[in-house]
Amino acid sequence: MSVHKKVDAKKVTTHVLQSMKEHGEKIAMLTAYDYSTARVLDDAGIDILLVGDSASNVMAGNETTLPITLDHMIYHATSVVRAVGRAMVVVDLPFGSYQGNSKEALNSAIRIMKESGAHSIKLEGGANVSESVQRIISAGIPVMGHLGLTPQSIYKFGTYTVRATEEEEANQLVEDAKLLESLGCYAIVLEKIPADLGKRVAEEVKIPIIGIGAGQYVDGQVLVVHDMLGITKEFSPRFLRRYLNLYDNIKGAVENYIDDVKSKDFPNDDEQY
Ligand code: KIV
Repeated sequence: MSVHKKVDAKKVTTHVLQSMKEHGEKIAMLTAYDYSTARVLDDAGIDILLVGDSASNVMAGNETTLPITLDHMIYHATSVVRAVGRAMVVVDLPFGSYQGNSKEALNSAIRIMKESGAHSIKLEGGANVSESVQRIISAGIPVMGHLGLTPQSIYKFGTYTVRATEEEEANQLVEDAKLLESLGCYAIVLEKIPADLGKRVAEEVKIPIIGIGAGQYVDGQVLVVHDMLGITKEFSPRFLRRYLNLYDNIKGAVENYIDDVKSKDFPNDDEQY
């Protein structure tokens, strides 16, 4: 067990995550969209795998998260669930599958849980989605909230800049976090907000707060796996720490392969039947 681990769990559940917060153990979360990557991340001991709608960007090449569908999300989630032994798998409800209609929200959440075998869903928003959150939780489905920069509302906000820097928006965010907690959400993602506000929320609500660009005082961190492995080259926000430079590593390997094929070096005598 890692020296930083205080809560030993064979399987990560909402109760395990709550216990981590209470014991001061930070929660490590990454996105995953496919079986092979999810296997490695689970094997490494990641606590939560998020089948994020960022699949729309990094897997499908869309500019925003808006085009991805519920069927696409279920496809990705099913592949990730197949790979996982320990991590908790959370799946984003995609844009258009829950906003403004709590019955549709519940149906979307049920489809994800039934068809993919995932353990929980995530959705964006606070008071505006409270009816949907309530209905989904009443059906026994754990819900993770998402506040701050909410990419599904990008056309409303207009930019991907830091959110809640003004007092009024910061207070609204705290209220939304408290509301999500009171509705029964088991955790909340806070995206791209000042670190002091992340600290305030983590102190004022009891459920785990997981940040992406929300500073060091929250209860856990999440990154998009393609970003932290350096597969996406152009995306370089301040909050991103790159652990590898896979874009260049993969490119170099493929260039070597092309050279080997063209030069007839590959395959050699030992690599054929
Ligand atoms: O879809 C996603 O990857 C996310 C993370 C940025 C939290 O929601």
